[in-house]
Amino acid sequence: MTPQYAPHPDPILITGANRGLGLSIAKALSMLGQSMVLIGRTKESLQKAISENELLRAKAVVCDFSKDPASEIDRHVRECGPISGVIHCASMFGGSLTQSNLAEIDDWGRLFSNSLVLSKACLILMKGHGGRMVFVGSVVGGVGRVSADYGPYSVYKGALRLLAEGVTKEGLGNRVTASYLNLGSFREDEAALEKPASFIKESDVVGAILSLIYTQLDIRIDQVDLLPTTEI
Ligand SMILES: NC(=O)c1ccc[n+]([C@@H]2O[C@H](COP(=O)([O-])OP(=O)(O)OC[C@H]3O[C@@H](n4cnc5c(N)ncnc54)[C@H](OP(=O)(O)O)[C@@H]3O)[C@@H](O)[C@H]2O)c1
Repeated sequence: MTPQYAPHPDPILITGANRGLGLSIAKALSMLGQSMVLIGRTKESLQKAISENELLRAKAVVCDFSKDPASEIDRHVRECGPISGVIHCASMFGGSLTQSNLAEIDDWGRLFSNSLVLSKACLILMKGHGGRMVFVGSVVGGVGRVSADYGPYSVYKGALRLLAEGVTKEGLGNRVTASYLNLGSFREDEAALEKPASFIKESDVVGAILSLIYTQLDIRIDQVDLLPTTEI
């Protein structure tokens, strides 16, 4: 059961909101009556997510973090108006982002710079009333010596942790802070149920993110580790 939190007055912005973890967070926030800005790559996928899940207080905004120029991301985000928090869930990883796969290196670079642009635009939108940004990271963000498939992904996630620190430093005067979520594998399929110690439940990840978003802003929460007990 989702704990009860009083919704923030202004929307929470969620990236990667059309499916996966981002959509699960949107569903949980919707149950609290929280207004939201949902960011996804296509209008169709966002509208489908909104209508199928009856996300009544959600507004859809289309941004592709690996294709759109920084100026477009900045404009789309700033047009959202005041926001109370951010959950940056969008991530580019399909097992094809290897160090030798130069075809996607420009996309990867834009994902990097557009995360910076997102945080800058949100810092401006949150000035005055404050709020928390949650950057959804990964356990591989702390390890450079990972398998080739995870190489660039780990660099991106590691950079998100530093970005969170920078936002907190810059935002303190305005009660804007950021938290980095150091996340292990989460799954709830049959294979995961057979090995419960190896995986986190998605519902627990959602619960942790909600608690970050609604914890009072005077408390700094730099990093939260959510790892299965096998990762010691
Ligand atoms: N799953 C895990 O076990 C695990 C473990 C550690 C960390 N994480 C992190 O947790 C977050 C959610 O994971 P998930 O498994 O729920 O992911 P997912 O199902 O793969 O969803 C990723 C989301 O990111 C969006 N996205 C991908 N590239 C994008 C781009 N260039 N611009 C904008 N949006 C883009 C996708 O949109 P489309 O539908 O358009 O592709 C989708 O909404 C990610 O940040 C991931 O790195 C996951």
